[in-house]
Amino acid sequence: MNFVDLIEAKREGRKLDDAQIRALVEACVENTIPDYQLAAFLMAVFFQGMERDESRALTLAMRDTGRVLEWPDDERPIVDKHSTGGVGDKVSLVLSPVLACLGFRVPMISGRGLGITGGTLDKLESIPGFNTVLEPDQLVAQVQDIGLAIVGQSEDMAPADRRMYGLRDVTGTVPSIPLITASILSKKLVEGLDALVMDVKFGKAAFMKTQDDARELARSIVDLSLECDVNARAFLTSMDAPLGASAGNWLEVREVARCLKGYGPDDLQSLVVEMAASLLVQTGQAPDSGKARQRVLEVLATDKPCQKLEAMISAQGGDVDEFRKQLAENSLAPVVREYIVPDEGFISRVDALKLGEIVRDLGGGRLNKNTGIDHRVGLDQIAKPGEPFGVNSVFARVHARTDEDAERALAGLADAFAFEANPVDVPPLIAEIVE
Ligand code: URA
Repeated sequence: MNFVDLIEAKREGRKLDDAQIRALVEACVENTIPDYQLAAFLMAVFFQGMERDESRALTLAMRDTGRVLEWPDDERPIVDKHSTGGVGDKVSLVLSPVLACLGFRVPMISGRGLGITGGTLDKLESIPGFNTVLEPDQLVAQVQDIGLAIVGQSEDMAPADRRMYGLRDVTGTVPSIPLITASILSKKLVEGLDALVMDVKFGKAAFMKTQDDARELARSIVDLSLECDVNARAFLTSMDAPLGASAGNWLEVREVARCLKGYGPDDLQSLVVEMAASLLVQTGQAPDSGKARQRVLEVLATDKPCQKLEAMISAQGGDVDEFRKQLAENSLAPVVREYIVPDEGFISRVDALKLGEIVRDLGGGRLNKNTGIDHRVGLDQIAKPGEPFGVNSVFARVHARTDEDAERALAGLADAFAFEANPVDVPPLIAEIVE
C-alpha cells in the first residue's frame, strides 16, 4: 500500500474506502508505517474530518486489531458506561455494582488518570491488593460469575489505539471528532456490548469545552454505536464544578462506599440513577424511565450494591478487611487541613480545573504517563455551587503528604471558590441527552 497516496487523498478531502483504511490500521499495529506518515495521516483527518462510512471503517478496523470478547449464552444483557473524564468523576465505581445487582453483565475496561483527569483504575488501586490486570478469559469468567469486573486494557485489545493515541497526544491531533469516536468506540466494541451509556462532559475541566462540541462528539459516538448494533445514549454533563464532594483516589473510593449506602452526594447519586435507569430502558428491561428509576432506587436502598463492590474487590485480589479498615480511618494521608472561609453567603463558583490541579500537585495525579501517584492525597468535603454558608464554614479539607504540600494547596484553594451575598442559580448537572 502506498501510504503517500492515501495521505494526499485525505489531505485533499477525498473519501477513503474500507480497504485503504483497514490497510493503514493494520500497518499501524504491524509497525510497517513509520510515525511520520501516520502522524501526517492523523493531521489530514484532523483538518478534513471523515465521512460516516470512513469513521465506521476506522473504528471497526481498530477493534479488529485485537481480541473481541466472546460471551456464553445468557439472558443478562452486556452493558457498559464510558466517561470522557473529569474531576471527582467516580460514577463508574458506583454504577457498575448497581448494574450488576440489576441483572446486567458489566465488563468494564477502564483507563488511568492523566493530568487533572482521574482514572478508575488508579482509584481501585487505592484498595490494598486490588488487581486491574485480567486476561480476557478471566474477565469473562468473573463477569459471568458475579456480574462485573473493572480492568485495564490488555495488550491484545484494540492495540491500534495505543499507538495512534500516543502519536495524537504529541502531534496536536487529539481533539478530532472522528479520531476520538474511533478511539473510544473501538475499545468499547471489544467488550461485545448490547448497550452503552456515555457521559460526555463539557466545561472548564473537560476535554470538550462547550456543550456544542460535546453534542457533536456524543452524536458521532451514539450514531456509530447504533450502526454497530450497540444501543447507545449519551448524557452531556457539566464539568465546571467537580462531581461529588471529593477528588483524589482513595478519597473518591470512600465517597463511593458512602454513596452505595445511600448517603449521596446528590449529584453523584442522581447521575448513577439516571444512567442505570437509562440502560434498563435501552435494553428493554424496564418499560419507561419512571419504572426504571424506581427499580434503581430500590436496589440502592439495599446492602446489595455494597456487597457487590466487595465481591468484585475480593475476586480481583483485593483485601476486603483492609478496605473496611481504611474506610473507618479519617484519612490515610499524614496531614489533614481545613480550608475555612470567614465570610457568609452563597457559593457561586467551584472551579473544577483549579481543584484538579491542586489534587495533581499534591501527588494524586500524573504529569505524564510514567509518573507514580499517591493514592492517599486529595480533597474532600468540597462545598458545592449554590450552597449557602455561614461564617467560618469549611469549603474543603486537604489531605497531604507534608505540611508544605498542604500549605500550597490551601493557598491555591483561595482561587478555586467564588461566592455572592444572594442566592445563586445552578444549572442542572445533566444538560442534555443524545439518543
Ligand atoms: N479518550 C479516548 O480513549 N480516546 C480519545 O481519543 C479521547 C479520549
